[in-house]
Amino acid sequence: MIIFEKIKETQEHLEKIKSKGLSIGFVPTMGSLHEGHLSLIREAKRENNYVICSIFVNPIQFNNKNDLKNYPREFESDIELLKNEKCDLLFHPSVEEMYPEPADEKFDFGGLDEVMEGMYRKGHFNGVASVVKKLFEIIKPDRAYFGLKDYQQLVIIHKMTKDFNMPVEIVPCTIIREENGLAMSSRNQLLSKSEKKQASLICESLKMVKIQTGYLSISEIKEMVKRQLRRHRSMKIEYFEIVDMYTLKPLMTWAESNHVIACIAVYVGKVRLIDNVILFS
Ligand code: PAF
Repeated sequence: MIIFEKIKETQEHLEKIKSKGLSIGFVPTMGSLHEGHLSLIREAKRENNYVICSIFVNPIQFNNKNDLKNYPREFESDIELLKNEKCDLLFHPSVEEMYPEPADEKFDFGGLDEVMEGMYRKGHFNGVASVVKKLFEIIKPDRAYFGLKDYQQLVIIHKMTKDFNMPVEIVPCTIIREENGLAMSSRNQLLSKSEKKQASLICESLKMVKIQTGYLSISEIKEMVKRQLRRHRSMKIEYFEIVDMYTLKPLMTWAESNHVIACIAVYVGKVRLIDNVILFS
């Protein structure tokens, strides 16, 4: 696996790859890789001739300094994992390389960023879009792979690529879960053993939501989830919303949309976790 830290050498190398007519699959990450990321790499390997992963902890998407400081970093083991998956190239730029000047682009997401994550993480999606746009411009992938766990991010990146006419296909990939159902996340390693056990309740609640869809009203379902998660004092729901899958508008009744997803953000101790379940589409 080739590892590049500089934009110029990456671009020069990729020019050669493209001139051979090879298709490029891209998996952007912030490192601390787990099975979820590796499943994206495998999907990219299946669908493309050449696969690139980026590892860059993007400071401008963190709205909280401590979160950025505590974000897990595991570069050496990440390299081993990527080598095992036969990833072709790892792009690992420094902050100075990515942002020689402070990033000041302001995106208009047409309201997609005003709900859920956007309500609690001001500026987060602007930071995500800034870095993903920059990475797409450097790498010019044919396809880019994103996990469905960060569903709002996926919708926003999709809009961004359309708005800027970027010739990249955004490929959504299924959520990979730990044995107890907890959605895989780099943040899971910050959980203690008992917190990890409690966190499985998030996925359990979402399963119940799916079962009760159509039987209970949306407000009854919201009450049910609150009741279930309140059982553990260390768990605090930040939001639980049932929204249209395309507009992300919160729904009051089932009749308002034919494409519905339930999304949740929960603090387990100090660790913030998100998850979701598609209810119908
Ligand atoms: O989902 C992530 O890991 C990040 O938000 C991304 C897409 C790599 C941008 O920094």
